[in-house]
Amino acid sequence: MLILGIETSCDETAAAVVRDGREILSSEIFSQISLHRPFGGVVPELASREHLSRIGPIVDSAIEKAGISLTELDAIGVTQGPGLIGSLMVGVSYARGLAFGLDRPCYGVNHIEGHVCSVNFENPPVEYPALALIVSGGHTNLFNIPEEGRYILASRTRDDAAGEAFDKVAKMLGLGYPGGPIIERISRAGDRTKARFPKAKISDGKPDFSFSGLKTAVARYVRENSIQPVAAGSEPAEAICDIAAGFQATVVESLVGTMAKVSKDVRPRTLIVAGGVACNEELRSKAASLAKELGIPVFFPSKHLSTDNAAMIAAAAYGMIKRGAVPDPDLAPDVTLRLHEQLGSEARLRERGVPYRL
Ligand code: KG4
Ligand code: ZN
Repeated sequence: MLILGIETSCDETAAAVVRDGREILSSEIFSQISLHRPFGGVVPELASREHLSRIGPIVDSAIEKAGISLTELDAIGVTQGPGLIGSLMVGVSYARGLAFGLDRPCYGVNHIEGHVCSVNFENPPVEYPALALIVSGGHTNLFNIPEEGRYILASRTRDDAAGEAFDKVAKMLGLGYPGGPIIERISRAGDRTKARFPKAKISDGKPDFSFSGLKTAVARYVRENSIQPVAAGSEPAEAICDIAAGFQATVVESLVGTMAKVSKDVRPRTLIVAGGVACNEELRSKAASLAKELGIPVFFPSKHLSTDNAAMIAAAAYGMIKRGAVPDPDLAPDVTLRLHEQLGSEARLRERGVPYRL
């Protein structure tokens, strides 16, 4: 089965052709990072305009690189949410129009399920129950997945997403955007024991994440130690590298520590770590140590599949089709689309072909 995946939820315009949910025939991504860099973050209005001008050529290029014609497609999967409304609207409208013209079904895919499925390409099949940490610029969630297509939220962030914290701390230190890769790079020159930041404690005892206090702690440290942000074009001072290393260590400890805690209840047979922050080597190595301790495998997507892409959306659509999803003829973007089981949403989710229960 050949599926065209389309992803426009944030600042990447992407299209991919995937065979049977596992074999990538093409994966085209146009990143808008340089467009948003001067603003230190994604500007929604600019993002949707850029998606509009890129979507046609990106889809054409994905079809051409896959070496197929549009009529060979069996279905289209498009990110329905969560994401920025204007950006999602471009992808969903384009996908619906194309599907209508080709007389093929069009499935609305949850972007987060896409990230979960991004490990399907280069790893053996996932064994369930699985525990999946999805860490990106917009999301930080830990899902208990008892069986394929069923998601129980084990932890969530109470405030900022982990990637967002990387981006904000980088901005504070004058390091540029996006912050994750830069913080990771300069951390290698830093000493994590010099600038220590405490992990957040959640007062109600739930195994949730919180990164906004950490961001404030870094701001306080910078102020109290009179540290100057890096001037444009110059190399970061040692003190800045130490802060980056200390900050990264705390984020990774918090993510992997929570995975360890939740693993005791869930007893997973596979760990999954995906999303943009999964590019981080320290996170990968600490998650690999945890998996070793638990005696189970950990699956990561390769780096180009960790950040937003459309191959993962096609893979998720394939899973939905296998589980008997019915395409919604009135498919519309949903900025707050949930993946996990929620009271009252059962009927709606069942309609989307995802076997949820209350
Ligand atoms: O998944 P993604 O491309 O977009 C969202 O769905 O949000 O993730 C982007 C996020 C950014 O916040 C970026 O700073 C972070 O992933 N990121 C990293 C690394 N590479 C990207 N964070 C930490 N270390 C990295 N190496
Ligand atoms: Zn994402």
